[in-house]
Amino acid sequence: MKNTDYLRRSLHSVWHPCSQMKHFETLPLIPIARGEGMWLYDFDGKRYLDAISSWWVNLFGHCNPRINAALKDQLDKLEHVILAGFTHEPVIQLSERLAALTGLGHCFYGSDGASATEIALKMSFHYWRNSGRTEKTRFISLQNSYHGETIGALSVTDVALFKDTYAPLLRHSTQVPTPDWRHAEAGESARNFALRCAAALRKHLQQHHAETAAFIVEPLVQGAAGMAMYDAEYLRQARAICDEFKVHLIADEIAVGFGRTGTMFACEQAGIKPDFMCLSKGISGGYLPLSAVLTTDDVFQAFYHDETAKGFLHSHSYTGNALACRAALATLDIFEQDGVIEANRAKAAYLTQAAQPLRDHPGVKNFRHTGMIWAFEVASDTPHFSRAFYQLALENELLLRPMGNTVYFMPPYIISEEEIDLLITRTLKILDCV
Ligand SMILES: Cc1ncc(COP(=O)(O)O)c(C=O)c1O
Repeated sequence: MKNTDYLRRSLHSVWHPCSQMKHFETLPLIPIARGEGMWLYDFDGKRYLDAISSWWVNLFGHCNPRINAALKDQLDKLEHVILAGFTHEPVIQLSERLAALTGLGHCFYGSDGASATEIALKMSFHYWRNSGRTEKTRFISLQNSYHGETIGALSVTDVALFKDTYAPLLRHSTQVPTPDWRHAEAGESARNFALRCAAALRKHLQQHHAETAAFIVEPLVQGAAGMAMYDAEYLRQARAICDEFKVHLIADEIAVGFGRTGTMFACEQAGIKPDFMCLSKGISGGYLPLSAVLTTDDVFQAFYHDETAKGFLHSHSYTGNALACRAALATLDIFEQDGVIEANRAKAAYLTQAAQPLRDHPGVKNFRHTGMIWAFEVASDTPHFSRAFYQLALENELLLRPMGNTVYFMPPYIISEEEIDLLITRTLKILDCV
């Protein structure tokens, strides 16, 4: 079958996510036949460099032989079993390894990122309830934050395009100023701006700590805000302020975890431990839907009781799926065996250097970089810039999906120097056409 057949059938029966389906009348829908390493191939033999890791999930390339082998082995042992009342080796091993990596010893599983956000919010609220603090029912988050699109997660998200339509369905939450350094005053350092924003957080909690359960934050990089980056000092301050006012700190590392910001977890760069850490996306190497919420002994103990209702009764059918956990274990093996965090430093330095002509391009603003994420704004009057850029990128064998006028690279960690050079050269070419 050819691309056009799949295209027609998909548009007829598949409701594609995060899309206005009518746009597909003019925007190409790309049926993918297979993936290999950095590349996706369509049915007509055209290839696309996956420079955004298929929505930030893929760490070690498509059809990675090591993850494939682990999954094939797991398939013949156990594909899935109910996790209420039962357990299995991959989920135990994964929980132990995540605990060792994060210092948070209790791991609750979900499926997608949004389900992890829901779990963390509910757990925080329920912790305070079990502790006799029933008035702690409110949540705060950063301006422009993104934590997922289910009703609870959307309630703490602050992206108008996704949120406004559903406003009547959502719970009220408060947004505090984002330390995104693009909003700093002229001459103000990112760190000083972070301190100023932390002072605003402190002021808010001084007034509202009694009714606030938790502050949820994307550490170091606010992804959907257009890869907004900020100084680690903000997180250090936030930890101290939350401690001072007895408010939980939820680190949403769904996008930034697993090496994205240059350390295994972004919180490490601030030397802090959150009360809850949400993980997903890269956790399974981009293979299977899996998320986890890790928390402390203190939180766990507040639920440990003779009374059923004091327990955390939340569940999803696929909680702790054995195949997904095994993919996650294979992913962690690659990190360990290949010294990925260290190797990524050299790779990031190469890409940053190779991107110098982009940084110097007259249409490029705010070129920035944290770990394995690069982003910049493009000064352009092109209507529907992101769609136009996306389409040009496809014509140049690149999968790039700008957010507004922000173009970003978030490649799988296996990207080679040759592929980096291709990515930069083609991006420059697109900039001259868009
Ligand atoms: C920081 C953050 N939190 C939560 C989510 C939601 O994850 P999911 O799309 O898997 O529900 C995302 C997704 O992009 C994210 O970037």
